Amino acid sequence: MISDSMALDVAKIKRDFPLLSRTVRHELPLVYLDSGATSQKPLAVIDAESNFYRNHNSAVHRGAHLIAEEATDIYEGARAKIAHFIGADDVDEVIFTKSATESLNLLAYSFGQSESSSAISLKLGDSIVVSELEHHANLIPWQELAKRTGASLRWFPSTEDGRLDLSGLEQIIDVSTKVVAITHQSNVTGAISPVSKILERARNVGAITVLDACQSVPHFPTDVKTLGVDFIAFSGHKMVGPTGIGLLWGRKELFERLSPFLFGGSMVTSVSMTEATYATAPRRFEAGVPNMAGAAGLSAAVDYLESIGMESIHNHELALTEYALTQLQAISGLTLIGPKNSVDRGAVFSFTLDGIHPHDVGQALDDRGIAVRTGHHCAWPLMKKFGITGTTRATFYLYNSLEDVDRLVEGIHHTQDFFGARGIS
Ligand code: ALA
Repeated sequence: MISDSMALDVAKIKRDFPLLSRTVRHELPLVYLDSGATSQKPLAVIDAESNFYRNHNSAVHRGAHLIAEEATDIYEGARAKIAHFIGADDVDEVIFTKSATESLNLLAYSFGQSESSSAISLKLGDSIVVSELEHHANLIPWQELAKRTGASLRWFPSTEDGRLDLSGLEQIIDVSTKVVAITHQSNVTGAISPVSKILERARNVGAITVLDACQSVPHFPTDVKTLGVDFIAFSGHKMVGPTGIGLLWGRKELFERLSPFLFGGSMVTSVSMTEATYATAPRRFEAGVPNMAGAAGLSAAVDYLESIGMESIHNHELALTEYALTQLQAISGLTLIGPKNSVDRGAVFSFTLDGIHPHDVGQALDDRGIAVRTGHHCAWPLMKKFGITGTTRATFYLYNSLEDVDRLVEGIHHTQDFFGARGIS
C-alpha cells in the first residue's frame, strides 16, 4: 500500500458524506466503488432536500402565496446554477426531467414528430448514428426512433481497448445523417470520446448532435459552448445530487422547434376543448408539478462540487486512474476491459477474472466491504463485442482514495485465492 498524497483531502471529503462512515459486512468499513451507478450524497444535499420539505414545500409556478414564491425561487435558482455549471448562457436552455434516460427519450420522441416547423424530421433513407459503447438509454430510444420513421441506425464500433473507432468517420456520418447521439464517457470502459472530431463531422453534414454526459459532467469541467454540441443529457444522482431529477440542456432555437414530450399542466399558453398551444422552453417540456425538492438538492450538489472545484476533482480522479491502472494490470488472470493508459479516460475499471464469474467476484468483494457493480452495465452490445456476459466494474469519485484502490486489489487477490483461481491465464 502507498500513502495518500492526493490533490483532494479525501478524509475531509468523506466526512461530508454520512453513508461513507457506515460499516458493512462483519463491521467492515465501506469501500464504495459504485459511483458510476449512483454517487453518494453529502449532508448539504440531504439537508437541502429536507429543508425544502420542512420550510418551502409548495407547487412552483402556480401558487399566489409566499411559500409558492419561495419554492419557485429555489427551483428556478437551481436551473440558473446548473446553467452556469455547464457554461450555458441562457437558463431557459436547461430542462428538468426525471432522469437522463427521460431526457434522451424526450429527444428521440420529439425528433419523431413530423410537424413542418420541426427542428428535425426523419424519413426512409435518413440515418441516426450512435456507437457500440452506448448505455441502453442512449441506444434503445434511437432504435425505436429509427423503427418509427424508417431511418437506419448506424454506429461507430469499439476498438479492442474500448475506445470509439473513428476510422469510418466519413462513411458512418454522411449526408443522410440527421442525428448523432454519442456517449461522452463510456460507463463500461471509461473511455472519453473524441467528441470534437465527431461533432465537427456532424456539423458539416447538418446533423443534430446529442451527448450522453452522465459519466462526464460529474467528473470533469464540461462547457456546452466549448463542446459545440446541440443537446446534452445527464442526471442529478451521479453528481452527488438526489435521485429522480435529470437534466437536458439544448440550444434554444432547437427547443422552440421541438414538440413537447409530456402534455398537461404548466406547459401551455392557451387551451380550448379541442386545441392547446404550448409555452416556450423550459416550461414547454416540464408538464406537471416537477421534482422541486430534487432541484433544491441538486442546487446544493452543484454548490458542493464547485466548492471542491471540477478541475481538482478531475485531477484527483486522474491520479486514481494512473495508480489503479498500474495496480490492476499487475494482477495475473485479470483482463481489463477498457483503455490501458490514462489518456482520455475516466476512473472506471471494468474487468474479468479468469475462471470466476463476475457475480461471484462482486459477492466476494462485498464480503470484504467493497461495493462494486457486476453484470452487463446496460451495455449489452458492448459485452457481446468483447465476447463476455458481463464484467466486474469499480468506479471512483472525489471521495475515493489510493487506499481504496489497495483495498480493491487485496479484495481481488483474496477472491482469486478463495476460488483457487490466482494465476490462471
Ligand atoms: N448507468 C448506471 C451505470 O452505469 C446505472 O451503472
